[in-house]
Amino acid sequence: MKIAIAADHGGFELKENIKSHYQHIDFVDLGVYCSDSVDYPDVAKEMVKVIHNNGADLGILICGTGVGISIAANRCKGIRAALIYNKEVAHLAKEHNNANILVFGGRTMKLDDVIQYIDIFLQSTYEGGRHQRRLDKLDNMEA
Ligand code: RB5
Repeated sequence: MKIAIAADHGGFELKENIKSHYQHIDFVDLGVYCSDSVDYPDVAKEMVKVIHNNGADLGILICGTGVGISIAANRCKGIRAALIYNKEVAHLAKEHNNANILVFGGRTMKLDDVIQYIDIFLQSTYEGGRHQRRLDKLDNMEA
């Protein structure tokens, strides 16, 4: 599975720590590459381009709280960005929402927790069925 990762300055440190933890994963790193201030909508836009072009199967986005970058990504067609804040949400975001972007808060979350959430999400399976009907309705809302 190809995973893209991107952060604004508020998420830069957590992005680097996630990459260091998963040494075996060849992340598509879309930046930022230092802690200089940037605007999170621009970061989300780069990630969405990669997801739309099938450059990655899954994205990880990080800003200070995870809120701004979630709002930005979820304005884009076909994007299901989930702000993951506990273990239950980590598996439900896959099982029910088939999220294609995981979002974290660089200033509000601990690395150990985030690693657990990513692991749980990756081990979970989308259930389809009634959930697919709901995802289809999300796509229709964008039309
Ligand atoms: C940047 O200072 C901060 O506003 C951003 O990272 C994020 O938390 C916005 O929701």
